[in-house]
Amino acid sequence: CGIVGYVGAQSALDVVIAGLKRLEYRGYDSAGVAVLADGGLVSAKKAGKLVNLEKELVGHPLPAGSTGLGHTRWATHGGPTDVNAHPHLDNAGKVAVVHNGIIENFAELRAELAERGHRLESETDTEVVAHLLAERFEAGGDLAEAMRQVCRRLEGAFTLVAVHSDAPDVVVGARRNSPLVVGVGEGENFLASDVAAFIAHTRSAIELGQDQVVELRRDGVTVTDFAGAPASVRAYHVDWDASAAEKGGYDYFMLKEIAEQPKAVADTLLGRIDGSGSLSLDEVRIPVSVLREVDKVVIVACGTAYHAGMIAKLAIEHWTRIPCETELASEFRYRDPILDQRTLVVAISQSGETMDTLMALRHAREQGAKVLAICNTNGSTIPRESDAVLYTHAGPEVAVASTKAFLTQLVACYLVALYLGQVRGTKWGDEIEAVIRELSDIAGAVDTVLETMEPVRALARSLADKNTVLFLGRHVGYPVALEGALKLKELAYMHAEGFAAGELKHGPIALIEKDLPVVVVVPSPRGRSVLHDKIVSNIQEIRARGARTIVIAEEGDDAVVPYADHLIRIPATPTLLQPLVATVPLQVFACELATARGNEVDQPRNLAKSVTVE
Ligand code: G6P
Repeated sequence: CGIVGYVGAQSALDVVIAGLKRLEYRGYDSAGVAVLADGGLVSAKKAGKLVNLEKELVGHPLPAGSTGLGHTRWATHGGPTDVNAHPHLDNAGKVAVVHNGIIENFAELRAELAERGHRLESETDTEVVAHLLAERFEAGGDLAEAMRQVCRRLEGAFTLVAVHSDAPDVVVGARRNSPLVVGVGEGENFLASDVAAFIAHTRSAIELGQDQVVELRRDGVTVTDFAGAPASVRAYHVDWDASAAEKGGYDYFMLKEIAEQPKAVADTLLGRIDGSGSLSLDEVRIPVSVLREVDKVVIVACGTAYHAGMIAKLAIEHWTRIPCETELASEFRYRDPILDQRTLVVAISQSGETMDTLMALRHAREQGAKVLAICNTNGSTIPRESDAVLYTHAGPEVAVASTKAFLTQLVACYLVALYLGQVRGTKWGDEIEAVIRELSDIAGAVDTVLETMEPVRALARSLADKNTVLFLGRHVGYPVALEGALKLKELAYMHAEGFAAGELKHGPIALIEKDLPVVVVVPSPRGRSVLHDKIVSNIQEIRARGARTIVIAEEGDDAVVPYADHLIRIPATPTLLQPLVATVPLQVFACELATARGNEVDQPRNLAKSVTVE
């Protein structure tokens, strides 16, 4: 969910609505605002996208005020209705609360409140907080203190922001787990789940830590822990400006982000390879002596980041000879993984806030493992809680379906694999140097792919009425196939599945019927040519059964030509780097198919960019 709070001299409603627009990617099934005006509290909320709320505000304008808050929601407790939308108010209509996360003991708290005569109207856990806050404020008259007392009663994950009509010019927030950042202005201050919400006003930010309460006034920010003791916080300067969070002439953020990939890849490599061709990763704060002792690597991630992790496994095992597993964070956490001080856990996350990944890394650290985060969001929770971090420099990614973050995650994974290989002095020394040189050229290769996408778009449009698309790949092509299928599910709402090409004969081949589109990612014919030949046989097998083959193959690979109904060419790269170029046509394909089917590209139904619940 997206949260914004404001206190200052501007119209709080304008600041909050503009901020929510920037955060809509975080959740978008309902939205609401509350403003302190004329000594009272006014609010409005609406199911559906933010534009519904904006229309409502045109029809029924709110009086102006300079303290307020707002929320875009991604439903957990209670469906996406007007009533369940945030903010939630107490019975007297004096307190307004917005919330991100889940309050696990809400049923118990709700029963207590009902016993004390409170009437609760929604099905949400958040409403409970509004009532508790009203009670506590009544008893003491200080909103921050009331918030601290309430937080001590809450179980689960929550980030809260609240205002009270008897505490004018004050906004309070509380953070456990999901992010909350303060924007420090002059005579005004902001609170938001992401700096994008206030970047148009200030680039000076303070990141709140776990279990902290913040009180915002026009001229000051006070942060304490839940007990009331002053807390230490980190202030930082946001190093991108508002234009980075805008569409810049593209119809969708996703198109812009696809186009930004060459730069994102180059930025992630920048400054990390020194003149002599060796790697320097200064953000890796784990001593080399510890890295030399690592005897197992475990990668945990979700969604697209998990696919990056599957590719990383192949690179790590090949270049370092250290056994490596990649696991879905949500699965890892609830089994009994074998980890110790010699295990390096790599947590990959664009947002740095995915709850499943966060829980997996906490679990890993409890067992004594060292955790290295690969993350795109400076100061987010996952890097904060890790032993080391390698930031991807993709810039803000707004479209829900991940594109440039994925490519930069891959680059970061290769850097980690090469670095581990380097510090351990594996026998692949020469290859490592060659790969570093090839990586420097990869941004250009991605650019070449982007320039040749028109036929892919035309193909996508021609398939708009299909129900199913299958994807096949092998070795690094297998995660690419899974990623291609995921993009299509997310964006086009089509049945799409990725298979390891070798598994075809063990089941999936039964799905092949006349005209079924099957995308095949073909490995380079150079290097591991056995893999190449095997996949060419797979293409023949499915084509013989009527499939319409869409073949992604390296420039100059002529062996595939007779069996490809559609041929998508990608530049030649070393085998392990191929996903950096092979994924791009699949992103374009999914985006165009979604558009052709009339779907929302940046905000697909039921999804959220950053899933801060388990
Ligand atoms: C959500 C998003 C996916 C993303 C995944 C992991 O499911 O919809 O696009 O890949 O979370 O997100 P993260 O921020 O941890 O990379």
